[in-house]
Amino acid sequence: MTAPTDSGYRQSHQGCGTEYHSQFSDNPRRRMMWQIEQAMLENVLESTRQQSPVGINYLDFACGTGRVLGFVSEHTNTATGVDVSDSMLEVAATSAPNAELISADITRDDSPLSGRHFDLITAFRFFPNAEPGLRSEAIKALADCLSPGGRLVFNNHRCLSSLRHRLVRLLTLGRKGRTGMTRHEVLQLVSEAGLEIERVEHAGVVPEYEWLLLRPRWAVEWIERLATRLPLVGIAENLVYVCRRPRAATVHRHAA
Ligand SMILES: C[S@@+](CC[C@H](N)C(=O)[O-])C[C@H]1O[C@@H](n2cnc3c(N)ncnc32)[C@H](O)[C@@H]1O
Repeated sequence: MTAPTDSGYRQSHQGCGTEYHSQFSDNPRRRMMWQIEQAMLENVLESTRQQSPVGINYLDFACGTGRVLGFVSEHTNTATGVDVSDSMLEVAATSAPNAELISADITRDDSPLSGRHFDLITAFRFFPNAEPGLRSEAIKALADCLSPGGRLVFNNHRCLSSLRHRLVRLLTLGRKGRTGMTRHEVLQLVSEAGLEIERVEHAGVVPEYEWLLLRPRWAVEWIERLATRLPLVGIAENLVYVCRRPRAATVHRHAA
């Protein structure tokens, strides 16, 4: 494990809870993407419920303002959110009122979650933003917190093979469009943590920005919803990975 630092992605959301949360209702693209993600999460909950009939113990890592935590916790037995930003957690206390909220960094040695196990863990809008070292530490710590057969669901909302990123790289001669993760990098990350990918869902094929929206919105949203059912994972911007901890095999122990 690396020594604690007070910079980088860990510090990126200090003091911006309210502003962050309102973007999921105010920005049309973010709002649409969140609605599509909710349908994906409902499918995951359905299959997880079948395997955990007594109830799901759920963790949302980097829960931020409780967007995903509030939605998923409605359907689980227990719910815990963990984040390093107190300002994000203050909003989460309202949007996920039934969840246990922990202000901590689980990649550190003194993780308050060590020894606890969950049937379902989510981690949204975290991995492609985080530095490579933090990505790796986080996924290994999360794999350690999964019950055998448990699921980790996370997204890469900055997939570098997306149509938009490719166009941006082409038009800027490679100067822009490089922030995010390739599909190959995600596969490596998952495999390093000893997890298996059960399925990959996708959304976001129309090459637009949240601040530069194409119109009419009804047409863009119709295309985007249809695209989630077509084999367009190769050009989509937001890939949602449903991974499992194998029942028998030993996952990577991050403190080893
Ligand atoms: C873009 S926000 C995502 C929030 C939420 N998951 C969502 O999808 O709306 C990323 C969050 O990661 C948190 N974060 C960054 N590094 C972290 C770490 N090492 N441990 C826990 N949370 C972390 C930030 O504080 C921030 O709230």
